[in-house]
Amino acid sequence: MKKKKISILGSTGSIGTQAIEVISKMPDVFEVVSLCAGDNIEKIREQIRYIRPKNVCVKSQANAQILKQEYNDLNILYGDSGLEEICTDKENEMILVSVSGKVGLKPTLRAIESGIDIALANKETLVMAGDIVMRRAGEKNVKILPVDSEHSAIHQCIKNAEDVQRLIITASGGPFRNKTIDDIKKATVEETLHHPKWNMGKKITIDSATLMNKGLEVIEAHHLFNMDYENIKVVVHPQSIVHSAVEYYDGSVIAQLGFPSMHIPIQYALSYPKRLKGIKTDSFDFVKAARLDFEEPDLEKFPCLKLAYEAGKAGGTYTVCLNAANEEAVFAFLNGQISLWRIYEITKEMLENHKNISSPDIETIIEQDKITREKVRKLINL
Ligand SMILES: NC(=O)c1ccc[n+]([C@@H]2O[C@H](COP(=O)([O-])OP(=O)(O)OC[C@H]3O[C@@H](n4cnc5c(N)ncnc54)[C@H](OP(=O)(O)O)[C@@H]3O)[C@@H](O)[C@H]2O)c1
Repeated sequence: MKKKKISILGSTGSIGTQAIEVISKMPDVFEVVSLCAGDNIEKIREQIRYIRPKNVCVKSQANAQILKQEYNDLNILYGDSGLEEICTDKENEMILVSVSGKVGLKPTLRAIESGIDIALANKETLVMAGDIVMRRAGEKNVKILPVDSEHSAIHQCIKNAEDVQRLIITASGGPFRNKTIDDIKKATVEETLHHPKWNMGKKITIDSATLMNKGLEVIEAHHLFNMDYENIKVVVHPQSIVHSAVEYYDGSVIAQLGFPSMHIPIQYALSYPKRLKGIKTDSFDFVKAARLDFEEPDLEKFPCLKLAYEAGKAGGTYTVCLNAANEEAVFAFLNGQISLWRIYEITKEMLENHKNISSPDIETIIEQDKITREKVRKLINL
């Protein structure tokens, strides 16, 4: 069987390493062409020894130089231009975009322009530029396969898109589901990074604690499945067994279930439309799952979810502003500069003062992203 050639952007991260675990289980099915990482040189070294890709890209020129001396048979690249070069290599049949944050946008667009299918974990790409990304993917006949477990679930549940009435996105509720607003205001970085169900990178873990992650997912779902915001419902489901559901016009609801694991949505995106016997070995046990609870999200305690809906509905560059303000504020929280609650306050302030530009092009999106980040940094350093 011909192997499917894949490149991984963000190979050293949570999704990237799990993707390598999936791929390693099926060496006859997948071949890794390129590995791309940020600064984790130890981990990329380990992955190079194990995978032996053709190309490697790291964030800094200095680390690229070090790797060049160690592996002179590999094509070693660096920086944003390196990522973009990898995404235009037509040897790729698929690119897994699993970098975190805004860095995913340009390489994803490059891959689309080169006609390469995308397995998309990086939700920020669609939050920033969903209209452009989905339009160009359609024009170039490029598949955008969701890796996020909720969107993978919806993708698996949709048979006839025109018969779908509503999308139901589940949320675990994060570490502060049962805490008070006062507790949330006093939350430390350590408490916030302690997610009850999922082991993920720092940025998405903080977003999960504020429910901004769910808001970003609502915007992602709007673009991926062309669904109005009014018809995307978030429901808190602390067991994280129902990964999301689709409601049809006849009232039928189809949901996708499983114990929390990113291996399945990653594998499904990589092997789509095939379902392979890969990393999962045991069967789902309904008795072990036992209880499935559902509740409304508390928008008083988690107002970031409301902000994301508002930004999504307003459209234009509002979602660029939302994403940039949130991302900068999350970094500041992780650096101990602001409290968790300030992430909401800062993002709200940026949105209230934002002058919207409807139907922005990519240059405008990048410019607005930059302007918002500068404003947030200035505000934090006042
Ligand atoms: N983790 C999950 O379960 C999960 C689930 C659904 C969706 N997602 C989405 O998937 C994306 C990745 O999440 P994650 O949890 O895997 O994040 P993560 O663990 O923080 O990993 C991020 C990856 O991106 C790399 N990276 C960061 N900046 C870079 C740059 N400038 N150039 C090249 N590479 C860079 C990092 O490299 P270094 O570590 O080497 O610096 C790392 O490999 C996010 O958009 C997230 O929302 C994640």
